[in-house]
Parts: sequence; structure tokens; C-alpha cells
Amino acid sequence: MVSFSILAAAIASLSSTAFAAAIPSNCTATYRVESGDTCVSIVEKFHNFTAPDLYRWNPSIGTSCFGLIAGQPVCTNVAGYVYRGPILAGAIFTPEQLPVPRQPDIVAGCTKFEYLDNEGKPGLAHILLQNGITMRQWNEWNWPARNPDEESAIWRGHFSCIAV
Ligand SMILES: *[C@@H]1O[C@H](CO)[C@@H](O)[C@H](O)[C@H]1NC(C)=O
Ligand SMILES: *[C@@H]1O[C@H](CO)[C@@H](O)[C@H](O)[C@H]1NC(C)=O
Repeated sequence: MVSFSILAAAIASLSSTAFAAAIPSNCTATYRVESGDTCVSIVEKFHNFTAPDLYRWNPSIGTSCFGLIAGQPVCTNVAGYVYRGPILAGAIFTPEQLPVPRQPDIVAGCTKFEYLDNEGKPGLAHILLQNGITMRQWNEWNWPARNPDEESAIWRGHFSCIAV
């Protein structure tokens, strides 16, 4: 019984530390994540910040946004923030611009990322042509564990790697 309550206290303080670390001190608004939410669905719910902003304010969600946890709050605004509009289909980001959400298996050392919007635009064929890369290269950079000569999936509402 004694050891049980020590364990419970340790877990509670661990999770309150994790919570404090996750929400920046200048956060001025939060949203409680609902079951089924993704970075894209949260961004589309508010239309006043981008997914890279959401990641900057809540790094624990991860660059693929797999760390969103239903029932937990995420920061949705910080003091002094200015929204510069949504990320459009075909937007190209460097790693410093925090391309989020990005496909989950991208190789380390990717130098450029392109956004495929939630409607599937601009499409993989266009992305390959525009950047002068082959399907095989795209596969090697985005799905390194798969056979690069087989067709692989490009994810809607995500950035994929287009240069290394
Ligand atoms: C908010 O605080 C973080 C540190 O928690 C800081 O990096 C960031 O620049 C601040 N943002 C604004 C808009 O003041
Ligand atoms: C976005 O809208 C929500 C709801 O009105 C608000 O609470 C939040 O502060 C806004 N965030 C930004 C970045 O404007």
C-alpha cells in the first residue's frame, strides 16, 4: 500500500512537469484536443495560426503531429503573435521554417520540403516535375525503409522531402 501511493505521487508530479514544459509561459489561449483531431483539423477549426506555429508552441506534438493527445490542452496563441495566412498547396519550406506536419519517415538531412494540401494539390507528379526529381529519389527520401522502385504514398495535408 505504501509503495503504491509513492508510485502514484511520482506519476502525478511527472505528468504535471511534462504539462508545464509543453505550454509556453506566454501562451494566451489553449484548446483541448478532441479524439480524432489532427494538426490539419485543429488549424482548420481556428484559421488563425498554422501547423508550424502549433508545433513551435507545442513541440511535444512532434513534427508529424502524432503526439496530439485527446483531452490534453495545446497552446493556440502567444502574446505578440501575428498570423500571416495559411500554408498553400506547393509551399516549399526549409528545415528552419519548421515544415509541419511532415511525413513520418523522412530521411535525416532533408534540405527542402513541399506541402501537399488536404485536397491533394499540387499532386506528386507536379512536385516531381517542378523540382526535377524522380519517383525513385522521392521514395528514397520519404520512405527509406521501402523498396524505392515500388509506388509509395504521398500524404495529404503534409510536407514531403524534395531535396537532400
Ligand atoms: C514566447 O515564449 C517563448 C519561450 O517560451 C519565446 O521563445 C517566444 O519568442 C515568445 N513569443 C513571443 C511572441 O513573445
Ligand atoms: C484563434 O482563435 C481562438 C478562438 O477564437 C482564440 O482563442 C485564439 O487566441 C486565436 N489564436 C490566434 C493565434 O489568434
